[in-house]
Amino acid sequence: MPVVVITGANRGLGLEFARQYAAEGWRVHACCRRPTDALSGIAGDVVLHSLDVTDAKGIAALARDLLGEAVDLLINNAGVLDCRQSLGQIDYARWEDMMRINTLAPVAVTEALLPALARAGDAKVALITSRMGSVTDNTSGGFYAYRASKAALNAVGRSLALDLADKGITVLLLHPGWVRTDMGGPNGLIDAPQSVAGLRSVIAGAKPADSGRFFAYDGRELPW
Ligand SMILES: NC(=O)c1ccc[n+]([C@@H]2O[C@H](COP(=O)([O-])OP(=O)(O)OC[C@H]3O[C@@H](n4cnc5c(N)ncnc54)[C@H](OP(=O)(O)O)[C@@H]3O)[C@@H](O)[C@H]2O)c1
Repeated sequence: MPVVVITGANRGLGLEFARQYAAEGWRVHACCRRPTDALSGIAGDVVLHSLDVTDAKGIAALARDLLGEAVDLLINNAGVLDCRQSLGQIDYARWEDMMRINTLAPVAVTEALLPALARAGDAKVALITSRMGSVTDNTSGGFYAYRASKAALNAVGRSLALDLADKGITVLLLHPGWVRTDMGGPNGLIDAPQSVAGLRSVIAGAKPADSGRFFAYDGRELPW
């Protein structure tokens, strides 16, 4: 049975990833700060882990919990978008928090789980980034902290892809679309089941040659 580790699995896209992989028979290691009834109620082989992705001790504990496992897929999904970022109103302390959550944490979690990923032989690491991290695609400005945190995530994703190739680990940078979650809000263009079904298809079809590439949920490649 394949094994997936998901961060931010208690709501939004992370919850939907947990639902869909569990329904397909995967063992799901669902990591979150505060489990929800929706997460606890998922049928299947779902193991809950308490994890704030900015907590180094928590990440180390997760790695210890997974010592005996081969992890086929790690989805670094947890993320934040803080809207108080217009020019003249930038909250720099919050910006630092966002960098810790959106950029540093995915690297730290990946680093800690490398032995478990390497055991799988052909593991994949999905970094849930955003089109808002594309410099080319930025035609509307604003969102300083979020854009910077996801652009930096894209940059580290390329390094991870190159550095982990010899371990057989494929690293994907994935944009979920504008999705109706707490973060995306009610005006999003698609719902979480559609986004996650698309992302799962991109992940399933990815080959080592795709490592370090930036794809949307519908398989389109995005510009940096
Ligand atoms: N929705 C969109 O339109 C959209 C578009 C592009 C990219 N994305 C990306 O997709 C990912 C998921 O977004 P979403 O729409 O599902 O957002 P969401 O509904 O706001 O959920 C965010 C998730 O991240 C978790 N999280 C935040 N900080 C955390 C921390 N320090 N430790 C552990 N978990 C933490 C939250 O847990 P708590 O409940 O504990 O806060 C929650 O599970 C994010 O990386 C986001 O940037 C979303």
